[in-house]
This record gives sequence, structure tokens and C-alpha cells, in this order.
Amino acid sequence: MLLKHRVFYPLMVVLLVFSLTACDFFKPIEPEVVEPLPPEAIPSLHKAYEGYFNIGVAVNAGTMNTHNDLIEKHFSSITAENEMKPDHILRYISGNELVLDFTRGDRIVNYALQNGKKVRGHVLVWHSQTPDWFFKDENDQLLSQEKIQERMAEYITKVVTHYKGKIDAWDVVNEAITDSNDPDHIYRHKDYDKKNGSLWNEIFAGSEIDYIAAAFRAAHEADPEAKLYYNDYNAVAPEKREKIMKMIRQLKDEDVPIHGIGIQAHWLFNWPSAGDIEDAIVEYSKMGLDVQITELDIRIDGDMEKKITLSRKDKERQADRYKEVFEIFIKHSDKISSVTFWGITDDNSWISQEPLIFDRNKNPKPAFWAILDALGK
Ligand code: G3I
Repeated sequence: MLLKHRVFYPLMVVLLVFSLTACDFFKPIEPEVVEPLPPEAIPSLHKAYEGYFNIGVAVNAGTMNTHNDLIEKHFSSITAENEMKPDHILRYISGNELVLDFTRGDRIVNYALQNGKKVRGHVLVWHSQTPDWFFKDENDQLLSQEKIQERMAEYITKVVTHYKGKIDAWDVVNEAITDSNDPDHIYRHKDYDKKNGSLWNEIFAGSEIDYIAAAFRAAHEADPEAKLYYNDYNAVAPEKREKIMKMIRQLKDEDVPIHGIGIQAHWLFNWPSAGDIEDAIVEYSKMGLDVQITELDIRIDGDMEKKITLSRKDKERQADRYKEVFEIFIKHSDKISSVTFWGITDDNSWISQEPLIFDRNKNPKPAFWAILDALGK
């Protein structure tokens, strides 16, 4: 009887307490409800960065309307994500004359200027998003170097003249350099860049520098005030950086008007290293180039086809990475004139891995706050 009191009743108490807590323990986890902050509690990113560099964003015909609240508040510079590329502007060729359509580009440029934003013009000469017919004659044969150079000059002159005085920086030539690690290969080529060859480089094989130089000269002649950039991805990877610098050195030796380098910055949580980013900014700047970060987004996985939803922990790692790269940009802000994000909210990025600083509900992510933290104010 005594044993029953000593063992049974305390055991009952323990069981009762356990069952009460277990009820709570096994309750389904409610999704985390984050109360959105009122807009006045969120500082403007571009104002916070005043005195350092412009904060830009790539917009398109859709987001320009749906996301105008974020664009107008947080960004001081705008790039058209697609609408000013050759395949959007080039319509057809009539006789020997190019027929162009600026409707979509104009909408974005006018929107930017009406809202007091600078505009990056993207892009004049690129192997991608340029119709095949542009490179060919009426018999479907590739044009000679002389003929394509004439056509290119006509295109650049018409486009840059149309936007004269409205564009702060032009990406004149985009992605002309190869990803091959072979030091003998400088320019993109179908044999060593797989599917990503370039008809530009195919026509000019061995003398690629000619069309690149001619492109910068034509752009400068049409708008002497616009700053002219060479823009590329992997531009901080040491092997590719060396090749880009070799090309730019040659352009400068020939007095070609090139003013800056666009580092696209489609980066990963763990690539490229902080050291490579910093070295590239310093090295490009030493060549007398202005540095612009032109297409920033930071994803978790190297395979950009993968669709990934970030966990809370992943978002914190992403925030740390954004903070790391912005601390480098701040340290070298005397060399950098603008930092542009490639998209606004995660759901309108070209990459389905939530690589941006606003979520699909337009709320700032941890990365947004980390970029403000980087200022240490
Ligand atoms: O406009 C058509 C639409 O009519 C059609 O229904 C739809 C079906 O897929 O396609 C739409 O076109 C897509 C276009 O984006 C507009 O959304 C193209 O297929 C698609 O290929 C195109 O992708 C763009 C990509 O460049 C093409 O090269 C991305 O939006 C754009 O973000 C991306 O930007 C490039 C930079 O210019 C240069 N650096 C790399 C960067 C990322 O690839």
C-alpha cells in the first residue's frame, strides 16, 4: 500500500505533465506570419547609399507598372531587362536600311527620366538576342566583315542618336570573351563555348578587336557625353578577367573611347571569393576604368535551371553574402559608380532561386537589411 503511494501517484503526476506538454509539442507548426512593416519603417536603399554609388535595378514592361512603388522608392538608376536589346529594337531591313522600333524602350526610358532616375542602356552589340537575319545577306549567307561593320555602325548610330542625352551609361559590347580556360582563346567561339558561340566572332575570327573598337567609336560619335562600358559575366574570375583586361588594353592602345567595365555579378552564396571580387575592382580601376556592378543577384545553387525555395537559414546565409559583397563595394566606392540588381522581387527574377532582396510579397528580405547594415550607420 505504502509502495503504491510512493510510486504510483508521483508517476501519475509525471504522466499528466507529459501529456499536457506533448499536446503542445505535437500541434502542427503554424506557418510563420510576418507582419509586413509599414512603408515608412523601411528606409530608401538608394538614399542610404547616396554619396557612395547609385543603386539601380533592371525593370521590364510588366514590373515597371506592377512594382513602381519599390522602383521609385529604392532605386536611382534603371536598366531595361530586355526592351532595349537588338531583338526588341530591330524590326526588319528595307532595301539596305534597318527599320527600328523604339516603342518598348521609350516607355522604360521615359518612365525613368520622369521619375528622376538615371538610365543604363543595355545593350548595343551582343551575340544573343540579336536576330540571325542581322548577320546575313538576302541569300542567307553571313555578311563580310565590311558589310556587317557597316550594318552595326548604322544600328548603333540610330539607337544612340535616338536616346542621345538620356542615357548615362551604355553597355556597348556584351559577353564577347570566352569562358574557356585556355589562355590562347580570348574570344567566345562555338568550338569552345559549346552552344554559346557568337556570329560576331565567327565573322571576325582572328580580328574580333575590329568590330569591338568600331562599336565603341560609333557610340561615342553619336553621343559623346554617354559613358561607354564593356559588360560581362564571370568578369571577376581571374582567368577571364585577364582576357577582358587584355582586350581593353588593346582598345586603349588604339585610343578607343571606352570608359568602364560592367561586372554582371550573377553570383553564388560561396562564389566568387571576396578576394577575387576585390582584386577585380582594383585591377579594372587601375586601368582607368569606372566600375559598375550591372546585374547583381545571389543564388544558392550553381545550376541556374534549378528551382529552389530558400529556408529561413538560407535567407540568413544569403544576407551575410550580400553584406560581404556590399562591404567590398563600400570600401571601393571611389572606383564604383553604380550597383544594379537584376530584378526587383524574387518572383520576377530570371532565376527561380529567390536571389533578390525583396520577396514575392514585396517585403524586404534579410538581405535588404544586411545591405543597410553594411553601411555601419
Ligand atoms: O517575350 C517572350 C514572350 O512573348 C514569350 O511568351 C515567352 C515564352 O518563353 O518568352 C518571352 O521572351 C523571354 C524574355 O526573356 C522576356 O521574358 C525569352 O524567352 C527569354 O529568353 C528572355 O530571357 C532574358 C535573357 O536575358 C535572354 O538572354 C531574361 O529575361 C533576361 O533577364 C536576361 O538578361 C541577361 C542580360 O541581358 C545579359 N547578362 C545575362 C542576363 C541573364 O541571362
